[in-house]
Amino acid sequence: MNAPPRTITAHPALPLSRLLNHTADAVQAVRAGQSLNDALARCPTDARPGTQALSFHTLRWLGSALAVRALLAPKAPPPPVDALLLTALALLWPAGEPPYADHALVDQAVAAARQRAPASAAFVNAVLRRFLRERDATVAAARRDPAAAFNHPPWWVEHLQRDWPERWQEVLRADNQRAPMSLRVNARQSDAAGYVLRLAEQGLAARAVGSHGVVLAEPCPVGRLPGFAQGAVSVQDLAAQMAARLLLDGIGGEASARLLPGARVLDACAAPGGKTAHLLECADLDVLALDQDATRLARVTETLARLGLQAQTVAADAGQPQAWWDGRPFDAILLDAPCSASGIVRRHPDVRWLRRASDIAALAATQARLLEALWPLLKPQGRLLYCTCSVFQAEGRHQIDAFLQRHGNAEVALQPGSRGHLLPLADNPSEHRHDAIESPGDGFFYSLIQKRRD
Ligand SMILES: C[S@@+](CC[C@H](N)C(=O)[O-])C[C@H]1O[C@@H](n2cnc3c(N)ncnc32)[C@H](O)[C@@H]1O
Repeated sequence: MNAPPRTITAHPALPLSRLLNHTADAVQAVRAGQSLNDALARCPTDARPGTQALSFHTLRWLGSALAVRALLAPKAPPPPVDALLLTALALLWPAGEPPYADHALVDQAVAAARQRAPASAAFVNAVLRRFLRERDATVAAARRDPAAAFNHPPWWVEHLQRDWPERWQEVLRADNQRAPMSLRVNARQSDAAGYVLRLAEQGLAARAVGSHGVVLAEPCPVGRLPGFAQGAVSVQDLAAQMAARLLLDGIGGEASARLLPGARVLDACAAPGGKTAHLLECADLDVLALDQDATRLARVTETLARLGLQAQTVAADAGQPQAWWDGRPFDAILLDAPCSASGIVRRHPDVRWLRRASDIAALAATQARLLEALWPLLKPQGRLLYCTCSVFQAEGRHQIDAFLQRHGNAEVALQPGSRGHLLPLADNPSEHRHDAIESPGDGFFYSLIQKRRD
């Protein structure tokens, strides 16, 4: 019989053994290098919410589960069995309140093993019951392994230690928290205070953050958000909501620095269109939204249609302007560059297991290539906002320091909070001070750069 879930909400009508098997499939796929989103897309619809909840939990505690499995079964079983074992061990790891009663979880994991790989059921049973018997000692031994203690790959832990000697442990802990669901209210329709009242009428508790940000007390499907289909609101993290204001308000924060209606703006890496839409909600701009991934770019078009906004969209490599640029310079460029996504691990617990240490230098090289290619497209006195959802300095501060060294006609904007890293922590301890961020947003880096007149 299924034990009632305590902190994980799974579908009550589905046998836990079935959810464990779907979760093991997802964990196996991530370990083989596929994204969790792609893996969940293959899960039957009725089992998807429960599988997602269990997969998030397992991936948040995968380092611990791997260390325990290595102690109890040093020779890893075949990947399908290993993934099931790791899922069960992550759910049995003493992380706060356990989601399921121990023995019910083990019974269901053994039932799942019988369906998945019948010959492995006795092995799965033996490992899990031994873990229950020796849990305190095994957990203490496993915690000596940094991957188990911090639930991130060792290279990631070392990288953060180097980049944030004072805060790395907090960042790692924050990565394993659940992120709140944040909304951006469409400024063409309403504001945060007004939308919070609309939510309250639907029985949804929320609070306003700044003029157009809203944080829901509990996540909910977008279909329940009033006016969502009519473009009243979009789902967007609070840190991501800083981009539009930084680009629009410009250098010095003075009225004269604001982008004028009709300004020509390039959103160089636009898909799925969150920041493109935000820019257009705030101002009447002539926006070219570019992305090299045509499938993702289609989502920009859908988003803009839902919100009643318009931009020109082009599928192309931003690093090769000769293929798509008409020669007219831009007043402003937003480069929301491809990155490690190390700032959004709360929402994507698979990211840390998918990345490799060598990815960071490769991504930094791509970011530098895009910066170099786009800088000549900017008018004198124009502004470029560079951002990444990364907490690694190589994709943020170091990237921009090197860019400024290479370009004598580039200067960092003076606007307070225009430059620096944001950490996914409540006090956002780095350079940023911005009223839009008064609760933990994702990890981000922003730098607003102005082109000097030659
Ligand atoms: C961080 S996402 C952008 C998110 C988007 N700005 C938003 O707010 O919704 C980075 C995007 O860059 C795109 N991309 C990666 N390399 C690119 C390139 N060379 N040229 C154009 N787009 C690229 C990816 O397809 C991806 O959609």
